[in-house]
Amino acid sequence: MGKIIALHSYKGGTGKTLLSVNLAATYVKKGKNVCLLDLDFRAPSLHAVFKTNNSERWLNDYLNGVCEIDKVLVDVTQEHGRSGKFFVGLANPATEAIREMSAKDRKWEMRALGRLLSLKTSLLNDMHHDYVILDTSPGLQYSSINAIVSADVVLVVTSLDASDIKGTQRMTRELYDLFDKKTGILMNKVLPEILSSKKEKQKFYKHFNSVHKLPILEAIPCFCDVLRAGGTYIFSEEKTEHPFTKTLDKLATKIEEF
Ligand SMILES: Nc1ncnc2c1ncn2[C@@H]1O[C@H](COP(=O)(O)OP(=O)(O)OP(=O)(O)O)[C@@H](O)[C@H]1O
Ligand SMILES: [Mg+2]
Repeated sequence: MGKIIALHSYKGGTGKTLLSVNLAATYVKKGKNVCLLDLDFRAPSLHAVFKTNNSERWLNDYLNGVCEIDKVLVDVTQEHGRSGKFFVGLANPATEAIREMSAKDRKWEMRALGRLLSLKTSLLNDMHHDYVILDTSPGLQYSSINAIVSADVVLVVTSLDASDIKGTQRMTRELYDLFDKKTGILMNKVLPEILSSKKEKQKFYKHFNSVHKLPILEAIPCFCDVLRAGGTYIFSEEKTEHPFTKTLDKLATKIEEF
């Protein structure tokens, strides 16, 4: 039985999309069948990463009950598959669609949660995906909470910014506790010098484990090479020997054992 993994954060720009995409590509490289879904309806991103307009329908349509999930998924195995199959589900980036999604009421969100929950059966059981990875919007809006509720594992991405750390603490204590989910923290954009020696690394992990009262699954350094790539290609696919790629390989294994 596969797993649904949601990436979430308190603040924006922490690296959810970058890490979702690269984690998905890492599992595909390992021979897993992966489905990556863009649940960030306020700022859709995956259409730009995969440069595809192939889908007949968007995830918006699936949640609206207009179509089933098979009409939404785009098979990118030819371009991006290594050993496993790779599917993506895109959020509609049109301005009108973004406005429409942000005006949904609570009743709609409850129905959308039902649609999300039923993906467990359709994607994991029927279509045999090993991993479904959900990229979400930052903060506490319904669409993100729905993603957390439907996930088996939640990865909270946080930076070292003081306001992000405080907000993440509050969010994980007050909200995540409620759902009782398997939750791990990804510290992203960490200054490389903080992780320069084994001793410093251990100190860092110990400190933040106690700050967040949740396991720190990985500390991911800030890499200029990643910034330089500017999201024009999937980093871990192309730069197979880069330390960023190696860090994600390690993370992927940790999540499998988590
Ligand atoms: N470890 C890293 N090293 C260097 N750059 C990074 C790293 N992680 C993320 N970035 C860069 O930070 C920027 C924001 O990342 P990304 O878009 O993935 O964040 P996000 O959490 O999805 O943002 P949003 O909340 O707006 O959806 C991107 O330019 C990305 O390439
Ligand atoms: Mg994003």
